[in-house]
Amino acid sequence: TAPGLHDRFGRRGTDLRISLTDKCNLRCTYCMPAEGMDWMPQSSLLTAEEVIRLVDIAVDVHGVRDLRLTGGEPLIRPDLESLIAGVRARHPELPIALTTNGIGLTRRAQALRDAGLTRINVSLDTIDADTFAAMARRNRLADVLAGVEAALAAGLHPVKINAVLMRGVNDDQAPELLAFCLERGLQLRFIEQMPLDGDHGWTREGMVTAAEVRAQLAEHWDLVPDDEPRAGAPAERWRVFARGAGPGPGTARPAGAAEPRARAAEPGAGTAQPLGRVGVIASVTEPFCAACTRTRVTAEGRVRSCLFSHEEFDLAAALRTGASDEEIGRLWQQAMWLKPKAHGMDHVGLDSEDYVQPERSMSAIGG
Ligand code: GTP
Ligand code: 5AD
Ligand code: SF4
Repeated sequence: TAPGLHDRFGRRGTDLRISLTDKCNLRCTYCMPAEGMDWMPQSSLLTAEEVIRLVDIAVDVHGVRDLRLTGGEPLIRPDLESLIAGVRARHPELPIALTTNGIGLTRRAQALRDAGLTRINVSLDTIDADTFAAMARRNRLADVLAGVEAALAAGLHPVKINAVLMRGVNDDQAPELLAFCLERGLQLRFIEQMPLDGDHGWTREGMVTAAEVRAQLAEHWDLVPDDEPRAGAPAERWRVFARGAGPGPGTARPAGAAEPRARAAEPGAGTAQPLGRVGVIASVTEPFCAACTRTRVTAEGRVRSCLFSHEEFDLAAALRTGASDEEIGRLWQQAMWLKPKAHGMDHVGLDSEDYVQPERSMSAIGG
């Protein structure tokens, strides 16, 4: 067969996400318990050289086209800049993105950019300091906001913001977060909370759905579906217009109204300039598993074919016992062949036998 991380359902893994550590300096309630986790031993983490070798194999053997570095919190790694520079030196055209909580970017954004980082996604769930301290269990909002500014100043465009809404905590803050992001030129995406928290505290009722977010925003702005194709990208996106300035009637809908999935832009529309864009990642209520292009490697060097898979294949062990690129490439392909069709939690209850939360939390898988 042609090279390239195929699975049984006709998908191909072209988008590699490598977690660089499971540690984090925040304790977001939807991710980790207050006391943290049983961290992976330092000696088991992939070294920068090992990460670079795995990227080589992914790109050269399997045609991977996109790299994202995640965690835990990847800025915890002091060697992040040299790791990126190492990948960049070997793959001049490869887009390299980073998903981070933003803490420490004030000192490092420019160096990351100089090392060859292409773009950055920062997690920011609220712009209210008290809400931030309650959600992340650390009083660090100012550091995150300064980090976002540093990323913009370093030219890491576009800077995307990931926000998770939690019921009774920040579920009424979507409009103020969007207003902030529009003003700063940040691309905001709301993410439905997934059952990947270390505490196993996720409930369906506690999850704020994409439809709810959409309805909240539509009370303040006109939202018009973005015409750019989504491909494997997780976010459904809208162009945001000032109320009444959007193209055509009927763009604003009352809260709770049914969601039109894809409304074509009206002919003659588009004289007004959008204020920006907003996305919603409906991982739970409208899964995009069928179009998934992701392959993931944990900080310990194990392939996970899916956020929700229950098996891992140990590339680091192969690497450390002298396996060739071809052998490692084959192991990687075996892992991806078993990629599940879908996570299944949209139609079954979480207490159903069909859905079992993976043992690892988001921080240990790599968001
Ligand atoms: P870009 O859109 O290219 O910037 O990347 P991204 O959205 O994939 O990156 P990011 O790491 O910021 O991920 C945002 C969120 O998308 C994650 O927190 C997840 O909630 C969701 N997501 C990413 N990958 C998957 C996946 O494989 N499955 C599911 N269900 N959700 C995912
Ligand atoms: N559900 C949805 N998103 C989550 N993230 C972390 N845990 C969860 C969860 N349980 C988000 C972070 C980060 C991204 C990589 O994943 O906020 O932005
Ligand atoms: Fe850290 Fe990200 Fe988990 Fe928050 S969601 S605790 S920032 S790894």
